[in-house]
Amino acid sequence: MPETVTLKLKEKNFEIPVISGTENEKALDIRKLRQESSYLTYDPGYGNTGACTSAVTYLDGEIGILRHRGIPIEQLAEKSSFLETSYLLIYGDLPTKSQLEKFKKTIAKQADLNKDFKNLFASYPKFASPMAVLVAMVSSLAAYYPDLAKSNPSKEDVDELAIQLLSKMPTICAYIYKTTLKNESFVEPRKDLDYVSNFLHLMFSSKKKEYPLNQEVVEALETLLILHADHEQNCSTSTVRMVGSSWADLFASISGGICALSGPLHGGANQEVMEMLEAIHADGGNIKKYVSKAKDPKSDFRLMGFGHRVYKNYDPRAKIIKRRVDDVLKKLGVQDPLLEIAWALEKVALEDSYFIERKLYPNVDFYSGIIYKAIGIPTNMFPVMFAMGRLPGWIAHWKEMKENPETKIGRPRQIYVGKNQRDYIPLDQRT
Ligand SMILES: CC(C)(COP(=O)(O)OP(=O)(O)OC[C@H]1O[C@@H](n2cnc3c(N)ncnc32)[C@H](O)[C@@H]1OP(=O)(O)O)[C@@H](O)C(=O)NCCC(=O)NCCS
Repeated sequence: MPETVTLKLKEKNFEIPVISGTENEKALDIRKLRQESSYLTYDPGYGNTGACTSAVTYLDGEIGILRHRGIPIEQLAEKSSFLETSYLLIYGDLPTKSQLEKFKKTIAKQADLNKDFKNLFASYPKFASPMAVLVAMVSSLAAYYPDLAKSNPSKEDVDELAIQLLSKMPTICAYIYKTTLKNESFVEPRKDLDYVSNFLHLMFSSKKKEYPLNQEVVEALETLLILHADHEQNCSTSTVRMVGSSWADLFASISGGICALSGPLHGGANQEVMEMLEAIHADGGNIKKYVSKAKDPKSDFRLMGFGHRVYKNYDPRAKIIKRRVDDVLKKLGVQDPLLEIAWALEKVALEDSYFIERKLYPNVDFYSGIIYKAIGIPTNMFPVMFAMGRLPGWIAHWKEMKENPETKIGRPRQIYVGKNQRDYIPLDQRT
């Protein structure tokens, strides 16, 4: 007998089916509830709502577990590469050696941008926010690749879309940096380099001087991208699914996801963390002042890089970055006083009852910026780096959504709390 629970509403019993995930997560299947009972469920922020089934990522925030397609994030961060993890997320399994080689080569081949598309960058002002330009550029891909901007692409089209997006994203991100922050001419992608090295080349090589690649930098960036690759139904991924559920094409869905990611409570948090650490440093390292401000109910200030909707334990990604950050800085010969401040801030917060009671721990954004900074990436590019890392997750979820016959257009309900019916008053009779 399938498991059900009985819900009593106005003396009438409703049998609610219970569904279970492969990790034995239980959910009440309320799909027929409104129709049968006229009751809605109310869950602002969707903290208790499963909007889909998904086989991409498993997350247990109480314990601090994160697995992609079953494989723990710790193993991927240590042993995998960003493109291999992308393949795993998008296609469900680790690639064979030849599949991975083919995937890498195809991606390297498509990294160039169309000449007219490249001219778009120059139309943005120098003070433009890199995330605003990224949204526009990804959305503009639909105009330059109309054959792929389809409502219902074939399996082959989706493969091509994944390749085009993964290959063009580093070029787009680096060219945003070159135009809005450096005012420097573009260098062409190098097909002989791996994904991360090519990105560093696009960012930091100039027409006159080739960027000297450093293995430590490449490995550190590879790890950061892997750690950002997916995080199940977070705000931006849910947006990608929501936009795509209207049969909007993948470019439109992903640019919607980038918009959602840009907020300081989501992907914009890494930039905010850096600005907060810099402010504390400029304020003589007065950590207690900032912790008190974060606890003050009258203040809007939050300790950026702390807290998470689903992790009520240390974010496993933050654990990995924290372990690596000191080592990376030492290997790069960088001394950053902000790292000492971050360590001290974490210690003070984790011993404070406010943070203990609310189970607020450092999240992925708390230490990532210190590594980006050591690599030479400016602060307002941090959210762009997050977007580059999250891209395979967005593609994997969009693909999964399209393949699921149960997918419907996303359309939540509401509880109306406005005025009841009243009559229109002509303008000359209004007081
Ligand atoms: C991530 C975040 C948006 C999750 O929000 P949420 O699940 O809706 O949690 P809430 O906003 O309901 O927070 C619960 C309580 O903890 C407090 N809180 C949460 N994060 C906090 C932070 N970073 N600093 C201070 N207090 C915080 C809230 O004020 C609230 O307190 P209250 O119960 O006294 O009202 C939130 O923790 C946050 O804003 N963190 C900082 C931004 C950040 O680092 N984002 C990146 C996430 S990867």
